[in-house]
Amino acid sequence: MKIGIIGAGNMGAALGKLWANAGHHVIFSYSRDEAKLRELAIEAGKTAKAGTVQAAVADSDVVLLAVWLPTLEAVIQTAGSLDGKIIITCVSGLQPDFTGQTIGIATDLKTSVAEIIQQLAPGAKVVEAFNTTFAEILASDSRQFGSDMPNVFYCGDDSEAKQVVAGLIEECGYESVDAGNLMVARTLETLATAWVQFAVSSQLFPNLGLKALRR
Ligand SMILES: NC(=O)c1ccc[n+]([C@@H]2O[C@H](COP(=O)([O-])OP(=O)(O)OC[C@H]3O[C@@H](n4cnc5c(N)ncnc54)[C@H](OP(=O)(O)O)[C@@H]3O)[C@@H](O)[C@H]2O)c1
Repeated sequence: MKIGIIGAGNMGAALGKLWANAGHHVIFSYSRDEAKLRELAIEAGKTAKAGTVQAAVADSDVVLLAVWLPTLEAVIQTAGSLDGKIIITCVSGLQPDFTGQTIGIATDLKTSVAEIIQQLAPGAKVVEAFNTTFAEILASDSRQFGSDMPNVFYCGDDSEAKQVVAGLIEECGYESVDAGNLMVARTLETLATAWVQFAVSSQLFPNLGLKALRR
């Protein structure tokens, strides 16, 4: 699979490396430092390269959006056509001081970042995922917590796109859980905010994995 990474920071770098290690063709893009993109591609291995945002979108089937909310709209507007692409978003509406969200059910804007992305790129298949995973865990040697494998909850409206994303989640060493339609991003993003707040207040950050127990 060809995967374009937009945002070469903590999340984009860690996920891009995991997918390149799994054999996918990965293009790293969007940094203020082009040398950083090239170094990332070298570290990720022979199936990875660096490129522009436009190249990362045009040459990919799947696009990971791993940018901060204030730059999101501008990035999408300059990315070129996203029609038919699967967009994975881990973009959070978390307030910089972690006290809440700028977008979400607990705000005046009763929507989610994922739904805003879908509005900005109506021809894309948007799937929300990885918003309750910490980049430090993605970048570490293993996603295992003892014998436990954490969950990554994902949601979206296109069932084929969701199947692809579930596979990509599992290749990162997580158990994927289908949380429903894209509208569920409103509560998933809220859960992510609570998860970050809990991680910070418990002083357990970042050594936490979220898991839904079942019997
Ligand atoms: N970190 C986590 O554990 C985590 C977990 C779940 C969700 N998220 C969400 O994932 C998203 C990314 O988080 P992150 O921790 O990966 O952030 P990050 O490390 O700051 O990465 C952001 C990337 O965007 C690039 N960027 C920012 N402004 C730019 C500009 N004007 N031009 C070009 N590139 C620009 C940065 O470039 P530089 O390379 O130049 O810095 C960096 O590569 C956020 O929405 C966050 O809420 C994060």
